[in-house]
Formats: sequence, structure tokens, C-alpha cells
Amino acid sequence: MLQRPRRNRKSPAIRKMVEETIVLPSHLIYPLFLVDGKSKPEAIKSLPGIFRFSIEDLSREVEQCLKLGVAAFVLFPAVSDKLKDRRATYSYSARNFYLKAIATLKKRFPQAVFMSDVAMDPYSSDGHDGLVANGEIVNDETLPILAKMAVAQAEAGIDIIGPSDMMDGRVGYIREALDKSGFTDVSIMSYTAKYASAYYGPFRDALDSAPKSGDKKTYQMNPANKYEALRESMLDEQEGADMLMVKPALCYLDVIHLLKENSVLPIAAYNVSGEYAMLKAAAANGWLNYEQAMNEQLLSIKRAGADIILTYFAKDFAQLYKKQRS
Ligand code: PBG
Repeated sequence: MLQRPRRNRKSPAIRKMVEETIVLPSHLIYPLFLVDGKSKPEAIKSLPGIFRFSIEDLSREVEQCLKLGVAAFVLFPAVSDKLKDRRATYSYSARNFYLKAIATLKKRFPQAVFMSDVAMDPYSSDGHDGLVANGEIVNDETLPILAKMAVAQAEAGIDIIGPSDMMDGRVGYIREALDKSGFTDVSIMSYTAKYASAYYGPFRDALDSAPKSGDKKTYQMNPANKYEALRESMLDEQEGADMLMVKPALCYLDVIHLLKENSVLPIAAYNVSGEYAMLKAAAANGWLNYEQAMNEQLLSIKRAGADIILTYFAKDFAQLYKKQRS
């Protein structure tokens, strides 16, 4: 036999030497949930190990992650029902605790990267990402609201704006609003191909942000479609996005690959709440090895073509990475 592929697998050192894909803590973005006030960390039932934090506890979490080499965070606000309205006005109000928290975090951790979420759902009494009028999610009327939200977040000091709403034209609209307000240095990571997925369930529990009626299928993408993601990516590029994202990750590895092959922009993938919860549940039952399966999930996403991974595993992964190197 001339070809014996096993020779390249014969020892740990050789296996490491020929390893094609590497995940580093610096490739990860850790999602964090923020609540107003001073309450103790609140566990989220469907997301074991993830909490809703007050700003002080959240700061501690950021500090620990920075020490572990995770330097980027995406922040989500859990807003009380009485502050929600049809037009999500609290999202850009000067009293918004989320905006204050961004300013505090940026002051405390200037070296970290903070990313926001731009969509109406955490602030909307309808629980939709866009404005609801006569039972429909209206596109163009939503854009000014998203732009106000993005500019308010930029004023607070956010590094990267993350439009997650899937309205048409929002990247260009937000880019123009940011530039007009002088925020030419604030980046946009667009949720380019965001699918109408069952895997967001635990996230909606965390924020109590599930739609009050209907579903998100008129704006989020059909899981059956791949080339539509390419169309979305071309539009986002033209509209000035700095990075493109695919979401969820694991059921959409082909989409990640397609976008990577067809764009020169960095590609991110969101390893979403349900993907994390599935593994946590299986591990809690003793059905899977948590650390190995986590590694395998993150590797597969990276191998498919993601440069950046948004993942609830970020801290656990960084801890494991440190342990394995010491
Ligand atoms: C809101 C938003 C969602 C997620 C991120 N931003 C949920 C949704 O669209 O319903 C999901 C993240 C996750 O499941 O981890 N626009």
C-alpha cells in the first residue's frame, strides 16, 4: 500500500501538526443577558449555565471571560412588560438601562468588543422584530425605528451593531443613519441569513420575547432555502455590512460554507440557544460527553467556513482550552 492515511494520525503531536481547523477563544462572541436593577443572577431554565445578570454581575462575567481570552460579547436586554409598546420606544429612550449598561461596560472594559442586537422584539408589546400594523409586520415603517435604536446604541459606545430583524434594506438604512450622526467607525455585523427556526426557543424564554401572535416566517428565512441566503448576503454587502452572519449554525453548515465561498467579508455563525440547550440536556442525562461534543460542534462550524462564532459555550470552551494547554 502506497497510501496509508493512518500515518498522519499515529501520535497526538502528528495529529496536532496536520490539524486543519483551529478554534480559539478569540474567535468567539459570548451572548450575555442583562436585566435592570440589582437582582441576583437569574437562572434561565432552558439554558443551563446561562443567567440574566445585573450590570455588576455582568461586569464580573466579562472580566472573567477577558482573562480567559474571550474578548467579544453580544448583549441582550430583558425588558419588563410594562416598558414594552407597539413601537418599541423604550429601545432608544434615554432612560433605557441597556444603553446605560453599554456605556458603563465600554468605560470599564475599553479593550473588549461589545455588540448589540437591533430588532424590536425585546421591546415590542407584539413580540415581533418589526412594527405590526393590521396584523402584518410592515417593513419600511420599521426602518426608522431600527435606525433610532442603532444610533442610540452607537451614542452609548457600542462597537458593533447587530441587526437581527431581517427587514429588507435595514443594513443600508442603519449605515446611513450611523454615518449621518458621525458614527462612521461603528461596525455592522448583519444577521444576513437568519432562519425561522425552532432553535430560538430558549432565547425567547430568556427574554420573554416570543411573538404574541403568528410566527416570524414573513421575515425570517425558510429553512429549505440556501440560494436565498446568497441573495441576502449580496444585498448586505452592497448596503455596507462589515461582517455577515448565518443563524442558526448547526443545521445550516452548508449555508455558512456557501457564504464563505462567495464573499470576502468575515463570516460569523450564531450557535443558538437551542443548539446549546440540546447538548446541555443530553450531557445532564449522561448521554453525551459535554466537552467533546462542544468541541466537535464548534469545530464543525469553523470548518464549514465561519471565522467568528457567537456561542453560549464561549466561557466553557475557553476554560477547557486553558486547562488543555496547562
Ligand atoms: C431577536 C433575536 C433572536 C435571537 C437573537 N436575536 C430570537 C428571535 O429571532 O426570535 C436568537 C438567539 C438564540 O436563540 O440564541 N431578534
